[in-house]
Amino acid sequence: MYIDLMSPKKQADKNSTNPKAKKVYIETYGCQMNQADSEVVASILANDGFAITDTADNADVILLNTCSVRDNAEQKIFHRLSHLRQYKKKKFKLVVGILGCMAERLKTKLIGERDLVSIVVGPDEYRSLPSLITQALKGEQGIAVELSKVETYEDITPLRTEGVSAWLSIMRGCNNYCAFCVVPYTRGRERSSSYDSVLQQTIGLYESGVKEVTLLGQNVNSYNDLNAKKDFPKLLEGIAQALPYLRIRYSTSHPHDMSDELIYAHEKYDNICNFIHLPIQSGSSKILKKMRRDYTADEYLERIAMIRKHVPGVSLSTDIISGYCTETEEDHQMTLDLMKEVRYDGAFMFKYSERGNTLAEKKYPDDVPEEVKTRRLEEIIFQQRAIAGEINEAEVGKTHEILVEGPSKKKEEMWQGRSDTNKMCIFPYNGEKEGDLLKAKVVSANSATLFVEVVK
Ligand code: 5AD
Ligand code: SF4
Repeated sequence: MYIDLMSPKKQADKNSTNPKAKKVYIETYGCQMNQADSEVVASILANDGFAITDTADNADVILLNTCSVRDNAEQKIFHRLSHLRQYKKKKFKLVVGILGCMAERLKTKLIGERDLVSIVVGPDEYRSLPSLITQALKGEQGIAVELSKVETYEDITPLRTEGVSAWLSIMRGCNNYCAFCVVPYTRGRERSSSYDSVLQQTIGLYESGVKEVTLLGQNVNSYNDLNAKKDFPKLLEGIAQALPYLRIRYSTSHPHDMSDELIYAHEKYDNICNFIHLPIQSGSSKILKKMRRDYTADEYLERIAMIRKHVPGVSLSTDIISGYCTETEEDHQMTLDLMKEVRYDGAFMFKYSERGNTLAEKKYPDDVPEEVKTRRLEEIIFQQRAIAGEINEAEVGKTHEILVEGPSKKKEEMWQGRSDTNKMCIFPYNGEKEGDLLKAKVVSANSATLFVEVVK
């Protein structure tokens, strides 16, 4: 299989110089999967003659790729739509479309939203976008929200923003049906791209100068190409062997698919990064059961112990939900205790947000008052910051290999890179180049960043 990774880029560049090409602006919200999906959408549209623009100001079409995972993510989109009405006032023929999880969840309810939305397209229907946009430009409305059991977009080379790191979506959907989560309803059943296509895309990325690939899936470690008999550890192993100088990351894992084989793959291959994101959600086994997470806190801790034993120096992160249905102070304390025991390098921490149609909504009362959710979340964040600060402080004097990303977004004269353990590293610029892999010594640290100096 030959994959020309540059062809979407060439096509997009050609379209951008064609004055007749309609300009599409894509704005992305939510998770890395959505970022990767927007690159697929851009590729589909470029292939059909549309120009992709990086500003809403002169666009003929504005597409919002949306997230539904919590209510505030959806409120953000409604807010943005109110704002976009000004654009419509200036350009009557402007087409506004909603893509992604919100499109799938709210379907026809979004058509006409804020007197604005004329296209609604779910995550498995992006191939129909060119025709829907063409119709919408003529004043029609269109909706495509079928979920698919097979769509993986594996034949489409994403139109990526250039950089040293790339995302590659390797599986879609989720079969887990955690009680709180809307994703199985908005992204459908699990399906995996073929082993061959993932391997070829990864090789193509490496040959085009990419130094780090993050394999993505809602439940990435349940990846399985049944025809090729390749599960996730075998896929990782295949890539790690084929490309020993490529850094490999992946997200997001479920604890029940964190197999011994996957841990051994980390142990065996240096280029599989020393970083694992393993959402626990709650430290209380009673709450985990009500979440349908199918592991107890002790079983999770056993996986962590196994990881720490075989992957020395591993950096760990997690997701936590505070104030889930029926959560007591005791349950909350168990979450704090588990976090203290694991000592995560990082965590994404959220207040529980009830989502329509989920098992939790049907079965359990959303009975933790808002102010209690907020206070518990603050306690979790406060403790996590302190732990991450201590862990990073202990890094001072140690050396890491960092991949140089470019100028720091926060500090002038400084550049940034990422350690193998996924820590943001800041260093004074001294002629380094994007994509360099450098040895760097940690000189100081806070809970979010390591300040390093390059070791010559
Ligand atoms: N409320 C709060 N957080 C949620 N997540 C998923 N659904 C909800 C919800 N209803 C969190 C989980 C998941 C992460 C991606 O988002 O922690 O791991
Ligand atoms: Fe949602 Fe659970 Fe699937 Fe993650 S594993 S996407 S939390 S249902």
